[in-house]
Order: sequence, then structure tokens, then C-alpha cells
Amino acid sequence: MKILVTGKNGQVGQALQASLADLGEIIALDRAELDLTDLDAVRTVIRSLRPELIINAAAYTAVDQAEKEEALAFRINAEAPRVMAEEARELAIPLIHYSTDYVFDGSKEGAWVEDDQPAPLSAYGRSKLAGEQAIGDSGAAYLIFRTSWVYGLAGKNFLLTMLRLAQEKKELSIVHDQIGAPTWSHTIAEATSDVVRQMMSTSQPAEYVASHGGIYHLVAGGQTTWHDFAQKIFAHESVVHKPVLHPITTDQYPLPASRPKNSVLDTTKFQQTFCSLPQWDEALAQCQQQYLLQSIAVSQKVS
Ligand SMILES: NC(=O)c1ccc[n+]([C@@H]2O[C@H](COP(=O)([O-])OP(=O)(O)OC[C@H]3O[C@@H](n4cnc5c(N)ncnc54)[C@H](OP(=O)(O)O)[C@@H]3O)[C@@H](O)[C@H]2O)c1
Repeated sequence: MKILVTGKNGQVGQALQASLADLGEIIALDRAELDLTDLDAVRTVIRSLRPELIINAAAYTAVDQAEKEEALAFRINAEAPRVMAEEARELAIPLIHYSTDYVFDGSKEGAWVEDDQPAPLSAYGRSKLAGEQAIGDSGAAYLIFRTSWVYGLAGKNFLLTMLRLAQEKKELSIVHDQIGAPTWSHTIAEATSDVVRQMMSTSQPAEYVASHGGIYHLVAGGQTTWHDFAQKIFAHESVVHKPVLHPITTDQYPLPASRPKNSVLDTTKFQQTFCSLPQWDEALAQCQQQYLLQSIAVSQKVS
């Protein structure tokens, strides 16, 4: 299967390349090769490559900056996915796209299910919701995986920020009143490749996706706060300097974009349809183990 992956250098894009490697010809494109602000280029590239599956892992993800660049965020997160979906429909191929917990306002008591009413609090959330709606209206066979609190060993994310701050600071104040599920980019990529494998085992992948099509929540199991996520990171044996943590409220750490207080997504639909998902703390431990092994390999090379 010829699979076009956008967002080659992003957290999920990088993890996808590893997880999908055995499943076909992966054509991963970065921003220089395909700029999603250029909608004509999006059409032209898809028409010339004629992939059998598109996985859109590219997105405008600068949540706070989006408050000042809403039009740009909409172009990348809504307009470009709309064009991808139109081209997927014309080629009769499936589109896999990622969305976010930030489509919700965080006001629910329990975990959010796919049919809950979205009400984004931020420009980023609005742009991602518009992307979901554009794909949904396109007539293409699609799967949208909403994920949350993505981290990994590459890119910009909370885990790597905490590991850097552990070297620099003795004390840290971290928000304790937002809950969600930290999700390793590897978990998202492995679950996606599982879905692709199931899709490929049928003679009509687009029909398989059409019959299972829609929005799914794809996050690790369980829930935590940013403060407790940091605490878990620092508890790992790979972290030598462990800063003292102070819990603070969202109001004590004001940011341009509002975040949902409750970002917890219910994954029953994904797990019943496709495959099981790990608990967030187990996935984090595996990721940090990988970090430790990488660090040891680097230090052995240096010495
Ligand atoms: N990160 C999270 O916590 C989080 C949470 C919920 C949902 N999600 C969703 O999960 C998906 C993957 O996110 P991620 O964490 O992998 O994001 P990421 O690490 O920020 O990667 C996004 C990728 O998109 C690329 N990109 C941005 N603007 C582009 C443009 N104009 N043309 C082409 N490529 C462009 C970036 O390119 P450069 O490398 O050149 O910048 C980057 O490689 C996205 O749909 C995101 O909305 C993420």
C-alpha cells in the first residue's frame, strides 16, 4: 500500500514512519515538500502521488500563538484537511486525520465521548473542530482520531520540557487543576498502524473505512494532572536531579489560550472497534526506559 504521511517531522509523523514501515511504501512529506498553507500544492501533490491512503499528521499546533494567528491555524487545520478529504474522495481512498481534546470546553464531570457537544475554548480548538467538520462533510471515507497531551522523545512536548527543566531548576510550579491523559506518540502510531493493518486485510480498504468511519478517541487509559504527570516523570530512575514540585491553579499560570479543565476522553469506541490501548503511566514508563537506553548509548559513544 502506498501511504502518504504529512507532518514528517512532527511527534506523531515521526512515530508513524517507524510503526508503518512494514506496511507498504511510506511517502512522508515535511513542510518544505508540502506546505499545507498552499492548498493548490496539496491537491497537486496528492494527484501526482496517487496514494492509496492519506494520513494527515501535520497540523498547526502552537496553541497559544493560534490566538493571534487564527486564520493561519484555520488554513492548516481546516482548509488543508478539507482539500485532502476532497482528493481522497475523488481517488476513492481513505483519509486518517488527527484531532484534539481541545474541541471540548472541559466542563463535563466524566470522560468525554465522541458524540458529546464540542465547544472549543481556543482558536486552535476551533480550527481543529472546523477540520473535523470539513472532513465529515466531504463525502470521503475517513477516520478522525482525537488524541490529547501528546509527548515523546522527539519534538516539543511536556516530557522533554520537564527533563530539561530538571537539569536547570530545583523547584517547579505545575498546574494541578486540569485533568487529561498523557499519550505517547508511539501509542498513537502503533494504534494507527493496527487500524491500517486491519484495513489492508480487507479487499476494499476505502469500504472498510467507510463502514467504520467517523470520529474516535485515541488516548492512553487513565487520567492525571499536569502536576502529577511531572511527578511521575521525575520518579523515573533516568531522572537524576528531581526538582521539588509545587501544585498551582490554572489562574496562577495564565496563558493566551484557555485549556479545558477536563480533557479526559473515553476510548471505549476505539477499543471495541480496533484494538486495546495502554494505561498512560505504563506507556510513560516504557518511553522513559527508551530515553534511558538512548542516553546510555549516547554516553557510551562519547566515551
Ligand atoms: N501535541 C499535542 O499535545 C496534541 C494534542 C492533541 C491532538 N494533537 C493532534 O495530533 C496531531 C499530531 O500532532 P503532533 O503532536 O505530532 O504535532 P507536532 O509535533 O507539532 O507536529 C506537527 C507537524 O505539522 C507540521 N506543519 C505545521 N504547519 C505546516 C504546514 N503549513 N505545512 C506542512 N506541515 C506543517 C510541522 O512541521 P514543522 O516540523 O516544519 O514545524 C510538524 O512536523 C495533530 O493533528 C494535532 O492537532 C496533538
